[in-house]
Amino acid sequence: MLTRETKIELPKGFLLGAASSAHQVEGRNTNSDWWEYEQMGRLPKSGLAADHYHRFAEDFQLACDIGLNAMRISLEWSRIEPEEGKWSIAEIEHYKKVLRKLKELNLTRMVTLHHFTLPKWLADGGGFETKRGVQAFARFAWFVAQNLGSEIDLWITLNEPELYSILAYQRGVFPPFRRKILTPFRVMRNLIQAHKAAFRAIKSVLPHSKISIAKNCVWFEPYRDRNFYDRGITWLANRMGNHYFLEKIRKQTDFIGLNYYFYRSIKFDARNGYRVMNSEALPKSDMGWQTYPQGIYYLLRQYKKYQKPIYITENGIANAADDMRSDFIKQHLHWVRKAVDFGIDVRGYFYWSLTDTYEWEAGFGPKFGLVEVDFETQARRVRDSTKVFKEIIFS
Ligand code: FCB
Repeated sequence: MLTRETKIELPKGFLLGAASSAHQVEGRNTNSDWWEYEQMGRLPKSGLAADHYHRFAEDFQLACDIGLNAMRISLEWSRIEPEEGKWSIAEIEHYKKVLRKLKELNLTRMVTLHHFTLPKWLADGGGFETKRGVQAFARFAWFVAQNLGSEIDLWITLNEPELYSILAYQRGVFPPFRRKILTPFRVMRNLIQAHKAAFRAIKSVLPHSKISIAKNCVWFEPYRDRNFYDRGITWLANRMGNHYFLEKIRKQTDFIGLNYYFYRSIKFDARNGYRVMNSEALPKSDMGWQTYPQGIYYLLRQYKKYQKPIYITENGIANAADDMRSDFIKQHLHWVRKAVDFGIDVRGYFYWSLTDTYEWEAGFGPKFGLVEVDFETQARRVRDSTKVFKEIIFS
């Protein structure tokens, strides 16, 4: 039984970090597609966000004070390449400072190249719906490798590429708000190519770099364990949702990055494929997302077959009252530890997020941060739940 007093032991060298993405914290990313739709009133305005662009040093210091030894950040492509083929030296210098600050604080640097936003010029030209997106992304990856590569320890090319394709091209909740049946598949295919092309581009500059994606994964279970149809639909959901993309890039990935938030108990349904039957008894975050820590363990067991090191690149909870967060983290780390004991090469865990963020279409409502941000004054306050990191022992 896991109690309040239980200490979590993690292997020596394990990365314990927090994750963030540029658009969600930096503020004023005025050259991106998101910013444009925000000004048009189709999305909540991000404005200054957490003003991390100016306050990164303070934020990283807080990460250290909390007891973390790693950070996952993203580079804002629309800052670095505001016009097609025109690179901003000033922004490269900015990110150099950001990455050097992390190094100075002994925080291992995991860097994402695409975390949902696109430069406006590329979005106007069709984004990842077209091959132009693939080429542009490879060129961007090459440019970053040339100019910032020596400051990056672990690379993530794409964040949640499948979820991005679906939210932007099928459900129509992310720019460019399309509701199409086949387009998401085309975008996914292009994203597979984009990853491969970026992988080659980075390796051509830095042959020893370590590269992956941050894969969105969901733990699916059959609602009725012995029911043939429930088992069948679970198998299919798992294959398509958790493995399809990774299998395609298996040879072009040095490790596996996993984002884990969701659990689904599913029942076969002839009309819709399946129905979600999650028990109402599971705890819920402020966003209504149910928590199911052991799901991370079952997923890790599945990903063992790739025989690559694994990092949990995101896992977190929106919890303004801060009464669930420390238990949430502890429970997930407990199951991660169990996976390590099972012989799985898990090397790190990044909590989402370091500070409160602009949570995409949900605006500033959800509070995921280890650090609370008052968005009026930009004042920071470390949440009490973060004490949990001080209780961790590295064996
Ligand atoms: C993930 C996203 C991240 C954040 C969390 C809550 O899907 O990668 O940017 O919004 O969800």
